[in-house]
Amino acid sequence: MKIQVDDKEFELMIEYEQIKKRIRLIGIQLNVDYEGRVPVFIGVLNGSFLFLADLMKEIEIASEVTFIKVSSYEGDSSTGRVKKVIGLELDLRKRDVIIVEDIVDTGITMDHLLTELKQLEPASIAVCSLLVKPQSMQHEIEELDYVAFEIPNDFVVGYGLDYNGLGRNLKDIYRAVAVPSET
Ligand code: IMP
Repeated sequence: MKIQVDDKEFELMIEYEQIKKRIRLIGIQLNVDYEGRVPVFIGVLNGSFLFLADLMKEIEIASEVTFIKVSSYEGDSSTGRVKKVIGLELDLRKRDVIIVEDIVDTGITMDHLLTELKQLEPASIAVCSLLVKPQSMQHEIEELDYVAFEIPNDFVVGYGLDYNGLGRNLKDIYRAVAVPSET
């Protein structure tokens, strides 16, 4: 099944039923790994909102949930692209932190995020990502302990992920259809 999002065509890649099954398994693993602790789940907005909502329904241990945003803006040529964590309201000192992200692509965003959050001296920090593109990663993320799906280098939308701000509401995940080159 093909769909149109803005000016791009996409085809079905991962159905919601499959997503739910993986989330159930990750939930079971988290319940075991964090038994007796009270972790803080930090959803990275906007992309993680559906993933985090479904994941939290599988969590049975006592836990807190909060959200952050990573603002991204162009610095001057010496600083390059600068990312900053905004909106963090909880004190993370001595807390067990689980960052919940939609996708780790190059890993640049997650690398910045981990560097900033580690300065707040949490007891532990783990990353839970819905999708990972291993072939695209430029930074090794040691904390990437929970991954629902590894995918190839396709551009994807749906289930929280957007293309030009659109498509976050789609229940399933779709990949961009490669356009044959005209030459
Ligand atoms: P990274 O810094 O390259 O790892 O990219 C992280 C961010 O880029 C993600 O949080 C997404 O917002 C966005 N991104 C990367 N790949 C995709 C994709 O295939 N579809 C939609 N957004 C993506």
